[in-house]
Amino acid sequence: MLTTTERKVDWGYIETNEHSQIVFLSDELCATFQIVKDEWLGVPARELIRDPSSRKPKHVFFGRITGYACLIRVVHLDQHRQYHVLIRQDEVTHVELMPFMNAIESTSKKKNQSRRSKYSFSEVLGESESMEQVKELAARIATSQSTVLLTGESGTGKELFAQAIHGLSTRKHDPFVAVNCAAIPADLFESEVFGYEGGAFSGAKREGKPGKVELAQHGTLFLDEISELPYAAQGKLLRVLQEREIERLGGTSSKNVDIRIIAATNRDLSMLVHEGKFRQDLFYRLYVFDLKIPALRQRKEDILLLAESFVAIFNDRLGLQVESIDMEMQQWMLHYEWPGNVRELKAYIERAMNLTNGHVLKRPVEPMLSQPVEVDTDQPLYSLEDEVRRAEENAIRKALKQAEGDRTTAARLLGIHLASLYRKLSKYQIKD
Ligand SMILES: Nc1ncnc2c1ncn2[C@@H]1O[C@H](COP(=O)(O)OP(=O)(O)OP(=O)(O)O)[C@@H](O)[C@H]1O
Ligand SMILES: [Mg+2]
Repeated sequence: MLTTTERKVDWGYIETNEHSQIVFLSDELCATFQIVKDEWLGVPARELIRDPSSRKPKHVFFGRITGYACLIRVVHLDQHRQYHVLIRQDEVTHVELMPFMNAIESTSKKKNQSRRSKYSFSEVLGESESMEQVKELAARIATSQSTVLLTGESGTGKELFAQAIHGLSTRKHDPFVAVNCAAIPADLFESEVFGYEGGAFSGAKREGKPGKVELAQHGTLFLDEISELPYAAQGKLLRVLQEREIERLGGTSSKNVDIRIIAATNRDLSMLVHEGKFRQDLFYRLYVFDLKIPALRQRKEDILLLAESFVAIFNDRLGLQVESIDMEMQQWMLHYEWPGNVRELKAYIERAMNLTNGHVLKRPVEPMLSQPVEVDTDQPLYSLEDEVRRAEENAIRKALKQAEGDRTTAARLLGIHLASLYRKLSKYQIKD
């Protein structure tokens, strides 16, 4: 969501030498934090930047400078380091800040305990306290045979976690079979998942077909969107889990199965149990380990780190040489709520990269394009030229509204020059 107030972009930065002593303080920083420059030159940086979670150097972290909580990003330059302030406490709302503050408090409490996991989930990026906790827990349960239930909003990385857990388990050389419970029509579900014997129903293959459960033998069966599992199939799955046996549709004998189940959902299963839509007995079977993956907006420290890794991915994929992300875009990303979580961030970076032609990535004009465009077929269709005019006029009115009438901000939101905005205002005779 775009905020209507103008955001300060540059809070300033601090530079240190190879001994971690402060050698430079920008004017913005001194002004922002009411600091007298000369008093701090030569002083160890940790005296000025309090980093409560300093168990290992982080790329982006939440710390304090002269009592203000801030989000700080570290840039390494040979032996020197620069600490850029990305947000200062009064910039973010209380609600936005709570998870960070809680994380900081819990880290400082645990500071002396060694909590590093000997395993790594290298492809699951994130250095925020909450992500590290989830990764550590996931790594610990990976080696057990237990059923795992992954919960989290859409796009938080549930499937990625499921694969990482499988990859760390003793089953890693056996299959990882994913079933999207929402994608299989209810009447085909049982035959797809549990398989069938020849002649089980009309249209069935003569020789029968193994189901996903059998295909996952000795490996992991990933049941994505488990809340959408048809009710009849829930009973059958429960039997597989309890008896470790499977009977194909139309079959007369059962086979032993040795599979590990990882289920995922972005819905509240206990609520569905309460509403009678999900079997309680199955719920308890699945609810052995509940891994909650936090939403991206609850771990803003991870946003830039993820964004930069996606930039590297798309540099490769698109043959580009983007080296950095423009400050204004960074600020925007840090303030946006990311309802579609990491998936949305990835799509957003991809879109920005498709529109870029320089080394510095800039914010695309329409940030929300990663969301599907609603096609309103009830509206009359005008010529393309008219449709474009109407859309342009609409975008300008929206930007003005969001900018509370401030034309400079509106032009910035639209990604156009102020002069160009004025031309368009007169073209569409917009006066307010
Ligand atoms: N921590 C992460 N590090 C790197 N990439 C990530 C991370 N989390 C998610 N992604 C990427 O974001 C995208 C969405 O992740 P994934 O499909 O695992 O989400 P999901 O929780 O299963 O979403 P849904 O509920 O919509 O199925 C994928 O491209 C994945 O690689
Ligand atoms: Mg998924």
